[in-house]
Amino acid sequence: MNADVTTASGSLRLRFIFAITVWVALGIGGIWFTATRVFATHIEEMYHEELEVHVRELARLTQIDDSGAPRLSRPLSDPRYEVPLSGFYWQVSVPNQPVLKSASMTRGSLDESVAHSPNVAHEIEDGPTGPTITYGMIMHTPEGDEVHVVIATDQSELDEDIASFNRDLTAWLTSLALLLLLTGAAIISFGLRPLTRLGRAIARVRNARAERLEGSYPSEIAPLVTDLNAYIRSNADIVSRARVQAGNLAHSLRTPLAVITDEAERLSEREHCEDSGKVLLQQAEAMQNQIDYQLARTRSAAGARAPGNRAKLPELVEPILKAMRRLHPNTVFRSEVPRDPVVLAVDPIGLAELLSILLDNAGKWARGEVRLAVARVGEAEVRITVSDDGPGMTEEQIAHACDIGSRFDSMVPGSGLGLAIAREICADNGSELEFSSTSAGLSVSAVFKAV
Ligand SMILES: Nc1ncnc2c1ncn2[C@@H]1O[C@H](COP(=O)(O)OP(=O)(O)OP(=O)(O)O)[C@@H](O)[C@H]1O
Ligand SMILES: [Mg+2]
Repeated sequence: MNADVTTASGSLRLRFIFAITVWVALGIGGIWFTATRVFATHIEEMYHEELEVHVRELARLTQIDDSGAPRLSRPLSDPRYEVPLSGFYWQVSVPNQPVLKSASMTRGSLDESVAHSPNVAHEIEDGPTGPTITYGMIMHTPEGDEVHVVIATDQSELDEDIASFNRDLTAWLTSLALLLLLTGAAIISFGLRPLTRLGRAIARVRNARAERLEGSYPSEIAPLVTDLNAYIRSNADIVSRARVQAGNLAHSLRTPLAVITDEAERLSEREHCEDSGKVLLQQAEAMQNQIDYQLARTRSAAGARAPGNRAKLPELVEPILKAMRRLHPNTVFRSEVPRDPVVLAVDPIGLAELLSILLDNAGKWARGEVRLAVARVGEAEVRITVSDDGPGMTEEQIAHACDIGSRFDSMVPGSGLGLAIAREICADNGSELEFSSTSAGLSVSAVFKAV
């Protein structure tokens, strides 16, 4: 069924999800890249500004006592310079005097060569706890001696600040990306909902639960739905026209064929013309059979294809049973059809024809009783069984019973077409005949989709 529809590389939903994933990845990736760069530059500038302020504060607080040794008039305002090995260090040195160091510098020393002019200069140097950003400047004592004022912060402090920002930013942006993907998926589902509804509406038409596509659709799909409905309608029109034409054809051929048969009968009674008359009779009969068979077939096939076709039980079986009781007055026809309405996704004309064929056969060969049973099979199917208490058929006979013209009992009149037509009706409605023959008689059944 799907062979004539080629699936173009996966589903629409997957395409949208792929596109949204690329879109979100580009957006969030771009934000991450820009934000980390901007933050790193910004925080680096802040560090440098702060160190410059600190080195100037240190220079301002530095005093030279009477012995020429440096000392601070008060501690630096930032308490981190007091915590041992905190990564924040300062140092003041005067030639020929002990070096004055921050309490944090419990080991090592800073390279004073960074301070080589009254202007503030900076470099990356090795400090007590790894590479440091070192700031320095030179002051002069009243005696004209150089005082080297140096201040330093571990490079790792800056790196850790940047890394911690990056970690936080990555976590936040990952959550945002997930949220965007989830809402994207929800938007796709919402956007594709009309297509899902359309799919369901088409399934309802295919299962004969509706005659046209129902519901309202967005403006992009509405023209398609209108076209599809027009197509379904024109198809149904073609089918019903075909039925009428089939009926007309049957009607128009019946009378001429009756005239021919009549003539042939008369011919066969005349001397010298008997043989020709018999041949004509036989051929006319064969023509009649073929016409009946083909008409029934066309009707069944056309009906089965028409959308929205349903057959309602027990309404459908009552008139047929009534006709059968008249046709086979010596046989009892029992009906085991549930009182609750059963609706089948089958062309009612086809189903009526099928039941007539099976009940007629059962009536012809039954010893006294025929049973028509309708029973649900699971949720969605119904089995129809016609059984009789006649002689039944052998395996061999069952195998050929549905062939056109197959007859195994010349005592009972018939053309051997009934079961051939019955088989076609079943096939047109997605079902098949099942035979079961026992010493008690024959039973024939078929399963159909319920609505
Ligand atoms: N219920 C039955 N019990 C026994 N034999 C049957 C039964 N139904 C069908 N058959 C056998 O299968 C043959 C084919 O049946 P089919 O209905 O196709 O033809 P038919 O009844 O002979 O003619 P008609 O075209 O009038 O129906 C019958 O001739 C008969 O031999
Ligand atoms: Mg028959």
